[in-house]
Amino acid sequence: MARSKILYQCQSCGYASPKWLGKCPDCGSWNSFAEEERVTKLASRKTAEPLSLSGVTASNDDRSSTGIGELDRALGGGVVAGSVILIGGDPGIGKSTLILQALKGLAKLGSLLYVSGEESPQQVKLRADRLRIKSDNIILLPETSLEGIMDVALKLGPKAIVVDSIQTVFSSDIPSAPGSVGQIRECATKLMFMAKKHGMPLFLIGHVTKEGAIAGPKVLEHIVDTVLYFEGDKGNPFRILRAVKNRFGPANEIGVFEMSEEGLKEVDNPSQLFLSERPSDISGSVVTVSMEGTRPLLVEIQALVSSSKFGIPRRTGLGFDYNRLNLLIAVLDKRIGMQVAGMDVFVNVVGGLKIDEPAVDMGVITAIASSMKNKSVASKTVTFGEVGLSGELRAISQAEIRIKEAAKLGFKKAVVPMNNAKKIKGPEIEVIGASNVEEALDIIFF
Ligand code: TYD
Ligand code: MG
Repeated sequence: MARSKILYQCQSCGYASPKWLGKCPDCGSWNSFAEEERVTKLASRKTAEPLSLSGVTASNDDRSSTGIGELDRALGGGVVAGSVILIGGDPGIGKSTLILQALKGLAKLGSLLYVSGEESPQQVKLRADRLRIKSDNIILLPETSLEGIMDVALKLGPKAIVVDSIQTVFSSDIPSAPGSVGQIRECATKLMFMAKKHGMPLFLIGHVTKEGAIAGPKVLEHIVDTVLYFEGDKGNPFRILRAVKNRFGPANEIGVFEMSEEGLKEVDNPSQLFLSERPSDISGSVVTVSMEGTRPLLVEIQALVSSSKFGIPRRTGLGFDYNRLNLLIAVLDKRIGMQVAGMDVFVNVVGGLKIDEPAVDMGVITAIASSMKNKSVASKTVTFGEVGLSGELRAISQAEIRIKEAAKLGFKKAVVPMNNAKKIKGPEIEVIGASNVEEALDIIFF
């Protein structure tokens, strides 16, 4: 039995409405509605057997290594059989490069299917030559029809499938255009059922819209097991692969890469890398420690404070939340009495990193204060901690791991929240506790 009906669907979140709307009431996007014909098949189905939870056997070791440590890490320790992994990122960031390098590692398992709807086999071959990948086990399929892909996949029975990109795939069962929410959902769902049924991992490469979300984001993110975002600056060789969702491992885990002439290279010691170009004895620069997943990362925060030429002072936070920056400036102004409210303030997290952890508040505040006072922070000092509205320094999680990482990289002094300092025993570096921002800044600048 089938019902057919014309629907208008938001191409960003999948919200459906019987009439066209200018603004999506669900996600707030403007002019995002497109006409789609919705075919609902009400097929009869078999009911699943209920079973006792203790009777279910499951093992967590059914993971294969991609041969790329940083990718395995972002995945939570390798690829799980039958899992669906979405890799999103800006065009040209290196998604196809990453996946081709991963296929090289997975090729030891057997044949792999690389479906490319965007590039010709010749283009893929050129890239493979550049990456020095030569394997008979990587099978290319230049196909965009879902039915065609499924046919080949079922015949070939590969150990893993890559679809580059999911936006190019279309099913002839769905009347709407390729790349629309209806198509993406239908194709991803069908591919997912196949992957789960045959226990083969499925990698979907997804485009990112102008606003930075994977096209049809909510739709896809719900379907897949793992969502990895590939981030980085165009002018910067560093790339960060971030797990924003992971059913098989910790979310927010990151892998760090460097794009080189011969493809993506893993970065073993990211903290060292992010600090490598740090100027010494310059005001407005400080090192703080952020937790990215289970990994502590030392990052340099830079700030520049200058007198404002306009009535409304300008504030920019590159890699740091704008609202949080304004809040920290207000704390400095009101609680510490530093007259920054009327100044232009620019803050930058070095290395193109994006940080949204309250623990780096203290780093941002210190960088601003340092620029304001025109006094540099000792180069072997780190600081972290969450700043409250009354200027208090709040304890944060995993302080000990952060301090260990700082000590490993040769830092001598850590200025941290009092409640964290109390609990840290026998560290290799001097740990000084402060209960509020004023105290902490006094210690940092004597
Ligand atoms: P690509 O993987 O095609 O990006 P995506 O699939 O995300 O669109 O990567 C394209 C960019 O990477 C391109 O600008 C060239 C660069 N690149 C290198 O710098 N070195 C390399 O070895 C490769 C293969 C690509
Ligand atoms: Mg590509």
